Amino acid sequence: MKLEWDLHVPVSQTILDVMTRAAQEVQPAEGIPVACAASVILCDEEMIAALNSSHRGIDRSTDVLSFPTISYPDGKTAGLCLHLLKQEYDDGLNACYLGDIIISVPRLYAQAEEYGHAPEREAAYLLIHGLCHLMGYDHITEEERQKMREMEERILSAASAGRNMLSESDLDLLQMAREAMKNSYSPFSKFPVGAALRTKDGKIFTGCNIENSSFGLTCCAERTAIFKAISEGARQFDCIAIAANEKPWPCGACRQVLHEFAPDLRVIITWGKGETDEKMLYELLPEGFNL
Ligand code: THU
Repeated sequence: MKLEWDLHVPVSQTILDVMTRAAQEVQPAEGIPVACAASVILCDEEMIAALNSSHRGIDRSTDVLSFPTISYPDGKTAGLCLHLLKQEYDDGLNACYLGDIIISVPRLYAQAEEYGHAPEREAAYLLIHGLCHLMGYDHITEEERQKMREMEERILSAASAGRNMLSESDLDLLQMAREAMKNSYSPFSKFPVGAALRTKDGKIFTGCNIENSSFGLTCCAERTAIFKAISEGARQFDCIAIAANEKPWPCGACRQVLHEFAPDLRVIITWGKGETDEKMLYELLPEGFNL
């Protein structure tokens, strides 16, 4: 799928790259053998609100708008309507023009934060949601909604932009956890662990596990990192990265210590040859203790 960009606000190259990558997975997933194209406007809240009002009579901003060129027969999507697609063939583009998508960039960032995932994942999701609408998908009935969600996730997974997608800054944080692991003092367990804790304003505190001949005095990497952060005055955290040779979900004691300051913390982990996984702290410690 070719995308004709119209950028009204600055957007990072990593966001444009992931959207381009996701768009490439649309036609194989839907089974469309002819070249297709769509226009994508990335704009601010004011512009999307104005378009929502002028085209749909709805006087407020939204996250994504889509305007298909084709009106698909009931229950059919683009893959089954090649004759309709071909009627939209555009000589200039050398592709069948499926329509326009408008995405609010401020809304994209706000929703990524709200759902606790990378802005790149939200950008890919909004684009694919819009492109699915341009291919005749909808979410009015529960059956339609499910069919659309399945297609969206199939495309996003194929583009490595699934729910667990990590942003560039998450990848940097994981790398800092791997570096911190090198300072581990773990002669007894021979199980080095590194952690990198990021504050909401972007400061990073790292830590490693520090063992002791009196075994019970050992301090885990996560607690080293958070105690360093707290003692330096930091209080608000958004993500902790943890690295070890084996899958390093934090121990129960560290979960409770992290919960004291950031029950809604994202926990991203890396191990082995660079495998990664992600969960929210409230999933790892439901009903954590509070006084
Ligand atoms: N360890 C951590 O650093 N973090 C955890 O969440 C679990 C365990 C360390 C403590 C000890 O030095 C080694 O791993 C083996 O238990």
